[in-house]
Amino acid sequence: MAVTRVPLIAGNWKMNLDHLQSIAFVQKLAWSLRDAKHDYRACEVAVFPPFTDLRSVQTLVSADKLDLAYGAQDLSVHDSGAYTGEISGAFLAALDCRYVIIGHSERRQYHAESDELVAEKTLAAGRHGLVPVVCVGETADDLEKHGPSAVPVAQLDVVLQQLSGDADIVVAYEPVWAIGSGQAATPEQAQQVCAALRARIASTLGDEAAGRTRILYGGSVKAANIAGFMKQPDVDGALVGGASLDVDEFSAISRFRQHVGTA
Ligand code: PGA
Repeated sequence: MAVTRVPLIAGNWKMNLDHLQSIAFVQKLAWSLRDAKHDYRACEVAVFPPFTDLRSVQTLVSADKLDLAYGAQDLSVHDSGAYTGEISGAFLAALDCRYVIIGHSERRQYHAESDELVAEKTLAAGRHGLVPVVCVGETADDLEKHGPSAVPVAQLDVVLQQLSGDADIVVAYEPVWAIGSGQAATPEQAQQVCAALRARIASTLGDEAAGRTRILYGGSVKAANIAGFMKQPDVDGALVGGASLDVDEFSAISRFRQHVGTA
């Protein structure tokens, strides 16, 4: 299958950096990538700041005509109404968000988000023209009991059942044991699960969808290990947490081709 997927390096800031810090950070990141002559058509770079930063990021990106993409870390299943504290996909679209992270393991763990809710949120993103970055991944316990791909594939399956073949989604495979632990999966482990996820997309949405859907690896990604992941045929980028809060580190991850080329 000809691989035409443009890699995506996505920085999940989680609950870090306020709106003033977000402006300084995005400015520095854009300068760093510009100085390195980063080609955004060869590798898309996106940041996922907290909701309260998004307006500031939008203003900066549009005023300085930056090629950086951005998105939110969650959205409501509802489009509007009496849902105190929720954020509609319509509001995110109005801020020119391209993406929205859905079903991150921290949402699943601390906010009891089920696979069904994740599927509903994926549909909500689609209604507003946002590309959902659907996160799946097994815990250490799951890995021991069910092996590497059973749980992530089952989680994705619930989402895929709701989608049609022309759906535009990104999938992020994030083993829970690798998130924030400094203990990344090996490139081979990541490849094995990403290949299984792609096979499931092929069997539910068809080969065309499987061929164009980007599947990211996430969990303790840093500049020193990104090249190994990006050499894998089914890994199309990374969802980066901790290392996305350091401009130089995140910029170096985004320029992974230089490491791949020289490794
Ligand atoms: P990490 O987080 O890179 O700090 O492990 C990844 C994530 O939670 O998306």
